Order: sequence, then structure tokens, then C-alpha cells
Amino acid sequence: MFDIRRFDGVIYGADYNPEQWPREVWPEDVRLMGEAGVNLVSLGIFSWALLERAEGEFTFEWLDEVMDLLHAGGVDVNLATATASPPPWFSLKYPDSRPVTVDGVRLEVGGRQLYCPSHPALREGVARLTRAVATRYAGHPALKLWHINNEYGCHIDQCYCEHCARRFRAWLEARYVTIDALNDAWGTAFWSQRYTDWAEIQPPRRAPTYANPTQQLDWRRFSSDNILELHTLERGILTEITPDVPATTNFLGFLPGLDYFRWAQEEDVVSLDAYPDPGQPDSHLEAGMVFDLTRSLGGGNRWILMEQATSAVNWRTRNAPKAPGQMRMLNHLALAKGASGIMFFQWRASKAGAEKFHSGLVQHVGTERSRVWREVTAFGAELKTLTPLLDARVPARVAVMFDWHNWWALNIDSKPGVIPLLPLLGRWYAALRTLGQNVDFVAPGGDLGGYDVVVLPNLYLMDDTTGADLRAFTERGGHLIAGYFTGVVDGQEHIHLGGYGGPLRDVLGLWVEEWDVLLPGQTNTATLNGAQVTVTDWCDVLHLDGAEAVATYDGRYYAGQAAVTRHASGQGQAWYVGTELPADALRDVLRGVLDGAGVPHTLLPAHADLSASALPDGTQLLHVLNAHPHETLTLTVPSGGTLFPDGGDAGTRIGLPPYGVTLIHYPYAVQISDVQVSGT
Ligand code: GAL
Repeated sequence: MFDIRRFDGVIYGADYNPEQWPREVWPEDVRLMGEAGVNLVSLGIFSWALLERAEGEFTFEWLDEVMDLLHAGGVDVNLATATASPPPWFSLKYPDSRPVTVDGVRLEVGGRQLYCPSHPALREGVARLTRAVATRYAGHPALKLWHINNEYGCHIDQCYCEHCARRFRAWLEARYVTIDALNDAWGTAFWSQRYTDWAEIQPPRRAPTYANPTQQLDWRRFSSDNILELHTLERGILTEITPDVPATTNFLGFLPGLDYFRWAQEEDVVSLDAYPDPGQPDSHLEAGMVFDLTRSLGGGNRWILMEQATSAVNWRTRNAPKAPGQMRMLNHLALAKGASGIMFFQWRASKAGAEKFHSGLVQHVGTERSRVWREVTAFGAELKTLTPLLDARVPARVAVMFDWHNWWALNIDSKPGVIPLLPLLGRWYAALRTLGQNVDFVAPGGDLGGYDVVVLPNLYLMDDTTGADLRAFTERGGHLIAGYFTGVVDGQEHIHLGGYGGPLRDVLGLWVEEWDVLLPGQTNTATLNGAQVTVTDWCDVLHLDGAEAVATYDGRYYAGQAAVTRHASGQGQAWYVGTELPADALRDVLRGVLDGAGVPHTLLPAHADLSASALPDGTQLLHVLNAHPHETLTLTVPSGGTLFPDGGDAGTRIGLPPYGVTLIHYPYAVQISDVQVSGT
């Protein structure tokens, strides 16, 4: 069991890359870390080339010195296994360890993450380095956490080389056992694709036209599993050598390539790198959604924000800085959503290299004259007062079902229309957050027991087991709401025949005959609660089979048919939204679902964020944030709250300045419907 108390309060720190700087800078770094309140650094992430300068020849002295300096300065270490990027000598000695793209291009030396996850020498090299690092630093007093590799799958989540093709075949053989079973699963009767031998099977490399969809889906599954083997390899060595040191690898939120629900099972603590665009007005929603996902991946336990920028990044076309106060506000959002550590990339902004325009704690200008430095040191001091947050949990009555396999399936070509799952998910999430709901994410097969409402945005791929789980959920009183294009195919990406909606048809009390996919700019309207709303993108043509219409289409050949429905199912209810509603209308429908489920809600302005977390003694913390750059919010709250952490009566009316943050401690669990926030 991972114990967050092994760290000195709330974790605060950064990636530390001393190898980019002369030795003389190191003691100054450690001194400044003390000034900033840093208590943990991630060290050695990209150090392979400096640690192993020739195969099997290790040079640890410089790292020994840094480890000792940090320890003497009271800074703990999240030590990297340093395997994130093989050195040039490695890639040149083993040229076929360089990954291959879908078009057959073998990538070249000069960037990072240049490796094929299947290559035998790469796996040996990774194991050799991990073993060497772990053996060297086992027992070092600064070592508090292992940082395995770095952002697996960030650049290379699929490699189409021959080594991977071999492993893909073995993976398929284990899954299907016989070639006939594979042929059935892949539907190879179509387009003369029948295989007679495993050896004929290839990765879905660039083909004259659409590659077989189930081949593509299995390839995605394989690629996630195959990279996970690399992680497990390192993990096993670390457990053998340092069984008492926990390990993590930094996730990337909604990263397309890796099924993090599967990966998270291998982590002692889940950690996240998050780079919401601070220039976007809804960056707090973008950030909140990945924070909620991350907490959910870790089963509701507290997690570590491992990387983010102190201000601007360097890799967008235009890189907005974080305005004064914005970094603090977003960090409070992470804390409200369960973070137990706030870290950055990177300690000192680089002088050279591809990321020299990426912000750091120590900016190019130095410290005294730096606005960023003033903010990071102030925040470091503030964090020291927030230790009680480490015991808080974020209880959610609403869960959104999210499945990487569904995402992969939706992204396969040759669909009725493009379904951009993440933006659509973002719209459901925003509507729920505007209603003041804490939101968890749950994978199919996950425990739905604690939830009153489960939301399924576009769960196109749904097997019968998931259908049965959702039926059981409504039967015992749960409330379900599904978006369009849900329940269309099974786990092999074969259509559920007999009317779309497949395993959920009886629960929803309807079936879908076809869909009217609207062209860009085309609209239809629907009547919802007596008002006409414009709908876009997609209109399911629905037939009711027990459900009642909540909204009906006004136009096109299915005018008068249902667009949004509700159906009593067991003790609960199942709703269906067959089209793309405007944000307000989606929120109104969700409000109806929450009312039906008896879940209290409020209505927040777009720039407000409200979260409630529960402390072990039954008391509660409200976290309210103002994400607006220049407007003030007004908060009306029940009496009896005290300002946290300073104490003092919170009163019932609080003004929140731009990027302001308020935490209020209540001796009881506040009804969210008793909290009102007004403003923009
Ligand atoms: C992360 C990565 C860091 C750095 C950072 C820049 O993806 O782990 O090494 O590149 O992005 O934003």
C-alpha cells in the first residue's frame, strides 16, 4: 500500500536536469530549491547517454554527487531509471532498434524516445540500465520514489517493424488460439482477406485502402500491451532490488496509445503530466478532466501531478504564458481533485536544446527579477500549510464511462461520420461540472456500486457483459444516460444486429434504425421542454420501445420522432440523447437526470470551479476557484464554514478575484445545491 506520508508534506518539485549545467551551478540549485520549498525532484530522466557511455560501461560519479548534494539540502529524489531515450551509440549499433512508422519509414537519431519496444537489445539495455541504477542507489537516503522511463508512448505508441510484427503474431495466437478464430473475429471473408497461417499476418501498415478494422483494433490493443511489457520489465527489477521503494511512471491523461486503466494496475501511485493551454478560456475544464481521470485511474486515491509548466511551453504554434495567479489557481484545481504533489517540468529553463523556450522555476532571467520565481516560491510556502489535504477524498456520485478500446474503435476509419470522442466527452464533462458535480471516470467492467448516475458518451463499442452490468446498475436504482452512436458494435467491432443500441436496447427502451449524419453547417432542430433547440452533427433515427420522448425532432424526414428519451428500467432510469445538443440543452437534460436520481446540483458560471472533498472525520472542504482572467465571482455559501487553512469565519458571501481560490471547511457535508456562485 502506497503511503503518501513517506514524503515531507505535500510534494513540491520539478524535473531536475543537472547534466545540462556546469557543476558549479548544482549547490546553488539546491540552495534555491530550499528557498522555493521544493522537497522532491525527478532526477536522471534523460541521462542514459551520460550514465552508459559505451555498452555496459557505467559512469555514476556525477549522479552520486547530485544525489548527495540533494540529500544534504533536504531534497528527496524521485529517481528515474533513465531509460527514456537510448543514446546515439545504441541506436547506431542496433539500427533496427529504431522504430518504424505506418509508412515504413525508420526514424533517425537526434530526437528522443527513439526505440522499438520489441527490440531484444533494447529490452536488454533497459534491463541492464535499470538494474545498474537500482543497485547503485538502493539504500541511498534521498531515494523516495522510482520514476520508470518517461511518458511511455508519448511519441512512439506504435512501431510497425518486423520485431513488432513477430510479437503481434504471438499476441494474436495467444488471444485466438486458432487461425480460424482469428479469421472469424477479423471478418476476413470480406475483401478476400482470409489467412491460412499466422505467418501471413502483418501489422496494419499503410495499405491501398482501409486496413481491416478488427486488425487495426487488435493492433492498438497489442501496442498498448507490448509497451506495458517494457514497463513491467523495469518494474520487476526495481521490486527485486528495492522492494520498499514505490514506483510510478508519468501518464499523459487522455493519451490515445495506452489503455491507462490497464496500466494503472501496475502503479504504486498514479502520476500525471498535464499541459492545458493557459491561453484557452476553458483551460480549467481541460485540466479538470485529466485530473479527474487520473484520480479515477488510481481508484480514487491521491495522485501526483508530476509535470506541468510554470508558465509557457514551447511546443504549441503559439505558447501563451500562465498569467499571474493562473499557475496557482490550476494547482489548487489539482489539489481539489486529489493531487498530493505538485511538480513541474523543469527546475531550470534550458539554455540549449529543443526546449529552451519552455518555462522553468528558474527562468533564463534568474530568480530576483523573475515574476515566475516569485509565484513558485509563494506557492511553495503556501503548500506547507495545506498538508491536511493529503487525507481528503473526492467523493463522486456521477461517473463517466470511458474506454480506450471504444476510443480506438471510434478512431478507425470508414465510419458513418467522424466522432471526435475527446471534444464530445469534454462537452458532457463541462455540463456536469457546471452543475457542480464531482465526476469520476470508470472503465467498462469497473465497479458502478457507488454511483447514482452513469454517463456513457458515445460508447460505440460495447460487449454484452458491459450491457449486462449497466442493466444491473439501473435495475438496482441507478440512472444511466447514453449519447448517440452507443452500443453499435461488440468487442470484435462486429455490428450488434437487429437495431442499433445492441446490448442496451431493452434498458433504453428503444432501437436505432439509422443515423442522419449532418454535413458541416447543416442543422436540424428539436423541441425540448417546449423550446426549440438547434442540433448539429448527428441525428439518430430512433424508434421507441417503451421509452418516452423527452425531445422530438422538428425537421427532416424523421420530424416528430424522438431525439432524447427516458425509460424506466428496474428501479432506475435510462436516458438517451440521440443527437448533438447545444451546451445549455445538454445541461438541462443532465439536470433532469440528476433530479431523477436525487443528486443535488447548482449552476455555476463558466469560469467557476467548485469541488467538494471529504475529510476522514466527516467534515468537508469546498474548493472554489475563479478561472476568469479579469472578472470577479461572488460566492454565496451556507454559514458555519471557516476559511482554510487560516481559520476565521468564512461568512456567507465571498468575493473571488480573478484567478482567486477559496477553501472553506465545514464541520458537516454541505449540499452543493446550497452553494451559489455568480459572475461570468
Ligand atoms: C513532457 C516531457 C518532458 C518535457 C515536457 C515539455 O512531455 O516528459 O520531458 O518534454 O513535456 O512540456
